[in-house]
Amino acid sequence: MVIGIDLGGMSAKAAVMRNGVLEGKCSVATSAEDTPQETAAKLARLALDVAEKAGKKFEEIEAIGIGSPGAIDSSAGVVVSWTNFYWTNVELASLVSKFSGKRVCVLNDANAAALGEARYGAGAKYSDSVLVTLGTGVGGGIMIGGKLFEGYKSAGAEIGHMIIRQDGELCTCGRKGCFERYASAGALIRATQRAMSANPESGLWRFASALDAVNGRTAFLASAEGDCTAKKVIADYIAALGEGIVNLINVLRPQAIILGGGVANEGENLLAPLREFVRPRIYAADYAPIDIVRAVLGNDAGLYGAAVFAEERE
Ligand code: BGC
Repeated sequence: MVIGIDLGGMSAKAAVMRNGVLEGKCSVATSAEDTPQETAAKLARLALDVAEKAGKKFEEIEAIGIGSPGAIDSSAGVVVSWTNFYWTNVELASLVSKFSGKRVCVLNDANAAALGEARYGAGAKYSDSVLVTLGTGVGGGIMIGGKLFEGYKSAGAEIGHMIIRQDGELCTCGRKGCFERYASAGALIRATQRAMSANPESGLWRFASALDAVNGRTAFLASAEGDCTAKKVIADYIAALGEGIVNLINVLRPQAIILGGGVANEGENLLAPLREFVRPRIYAADYAPIDIVRAVLGNDAGLYGAAVFAEERE
């Protein structure tokens, strides 16, 4: 029995996993203002709470797996760099281990989601798949031959930081034009807000009464009602997301691209136009066709994957 934790910029979620079933899900708010020590203490507390909620004795828990954003040294359990939280070389595994008394493993959050989907979700029928998470940032997880590919020193699969527009928008990583500046949920929100400011007559205002009420759904909702400004926001978003995905396909040629994160909840409203954008642009499209599908574990993918990672690392 292991605990999986999905650490994010707004919250950390956790669950006990036993024989592939998640139990006792809990979450706690996280903040960039907390020190790494404070965050680690919160995560250890969360592990205790989740075991209790699942009705398990904490002694029965063998290990804790944590999926964290950023470049992770997964063999040492160190968050090497997480720019959104300004973390550098945070020894997260040993800190959480100190507070909880358990063996702790850490891997990248999107890698965890890819592993979770591969073992228990949309990736189960493919040996080669790439999971793309569309949340605050854009994360990537690459499965090759049924195994998680983490790259040298587990720093790979940072797909959110491939450049899709030279000299484009400045990213938190310090470079300009990163994929995540255009394809994340945050990017979609910023684009929606810009469109609203420029078009006071747009129907978008019916779905968000103020700019700070905009979320990742606003433009999709207004677009479904036929609003032209919203349609343009969505078309631009899909074009940016599509360009990045075409690049991923041309380099890795997986059997499937699996989309996760909040924006993927749009389902076919996102996937159908995305497939239409991607298909004619991939190299030798007919020779090795690609499935573009939605993650099925939703917010739980990272929990499954973190737990699986802790289990498989024994
Ligand atoms: C980070 C990745 C992370 C992704 C999703 C990106 O900004 O660089 O490491 O996987 O966000 O959280």
